[in-house]
Amino acid sequence: MKERLLTEFAKVFGGSEGAAIYFAPGRVNLIGEHTDYNGGHVFPCALTLGTYAAARKRKDKKLVFYSLNFKEVGKVESSLEDLTPKKEAGWTNYPKGVIWSFAKRGMKPDCGMDLLLYGTIPNGAGLSSSASVEVLTGFILRDLFGFPVSNQELALIGQYSENHYNGVNCGIMDQFAVAMGKEGHAIFLDTSDLSYEYVPVSLENEKLIIACSNKKRGLADSKYNERRKECEAALRELQQVIPINSLGELTEDVFETCKAAIKEEARRRRAKHAVYENRRTIYAMDALKRQDIRTFGRLMNESHLSLAQDYEVTGVEMDTLVSEAWKQEGVLGSRITGGGFGGCSISIVREDCVEAFIKNVGTAYEEKIGYEADFYPVEIGGPPCIMPAGKLEGKPGGG
Ligand code: GLA
Repeated sequence: MKERLLTEFAKVFGGSEGAAIYFAPGRVNLIGEHTDYNGGHVFPCALTLGTYAAARKRKDKKLVFYSLNFKEVGKVESSLEDLTPKKEAGWTNYPKGVIWSFAKRGMKPDCGMDLLLYGTIPNGAGLSSSASVEVLTGFILRDLFGFPVSNQELALIGQYSENHYNGVNCGIMDQFAVAMGKEGHAIFLDTSDLSYEYVPVSLENEKLIIACSNKKRGLADSKYNERRKECEAALRELQQVIPINSLGELTEDVFETCKAAIKEEARRRRAKHAVYENRRTIYAMDALKRQDIRTFGRLMNESHLSLAQDYEVTGVEMDTLVSEAWKQEGVLGSRITGGGFGGCSISIVREDCVEAFIKNVGTAYEEKIGYEADFYPVEIGGPPCIMPAGKLEGKPGGG
């Protein structure tokens, strides 16, 4: 990989001298969906799929970007002197937003850079390709310019950039999972105070399988922002009857006794999801610690139903992928993962059943939806890293 990136870098930028290679993972969320902007818990892990970069400083103030995933777009140029978001800047609005966010915090690079990216995360699949690019950009800025930021701050800067530069009012989960990943572990994160715990995911006879629906994302971002507003409105209504700061502070019982304060029925269901999903995430963490994968899987299934019926972020594509998965032998749990409105499912599947799972779910999906889904057995990877000199192939992560 390293060699390929350097060769491509040399082709695009005329020589690769002084360029270093970096990697940041994507993420998959095991459970705890739409809880991160409600002060609840999430349980994601970093993947070995992610984004690679080759980068080096320039002598002038230019920022020159190139993505091997969008070769047809070619080189995209901008400058440190003009960091405003522009529609025609396309994907480069992600790294630009991070540079802008660093500058807002008083960390302005004193020269431009050449940046070549290559992502192995399927695009727009809900596996956080954008958070991966954001955290990767921050990691590179730290390395090239020596800015004093921790990995956790890289996550916060990435989120800030997505909220204020790219216009998606996302929570902290994606950037946190990318910046703080640990090989073989899921991150149990309390988004109310950013305290976290790494929990080993020791699946002895099972595999994590991601199924990508290939549904075009369309209005996903605006619908996401809409759900967030609904939760905020529900919280304000609940605050009339109970002193809470977030939905994540409620247990199921307390929610049931005060839910009548939420006037509108749909909004009551949104809040119910946020409360119950947070509780499920806590139970799931406990089950994983006890190695009780059956209970963990059951909670994943419940999470999907809640996201389908109460939060309404699934749609026919995701419901098909997941309900077909539930029918298969050796499936311990399956649910939509990520923000929804398309994207991916995550399933825990017994190793000897994986082949049949992919074949059967794939066939049923194509028959019903009219196009194919893609399947990826995935491994849990580590945090962003700079790839050591001489390491030509292999698994990033660790470090
Ligand atoms: C997207 C957002 C996250 C989170 C999930 C839903 O991935 O970026 O902050 O809200 O959706 O759990």
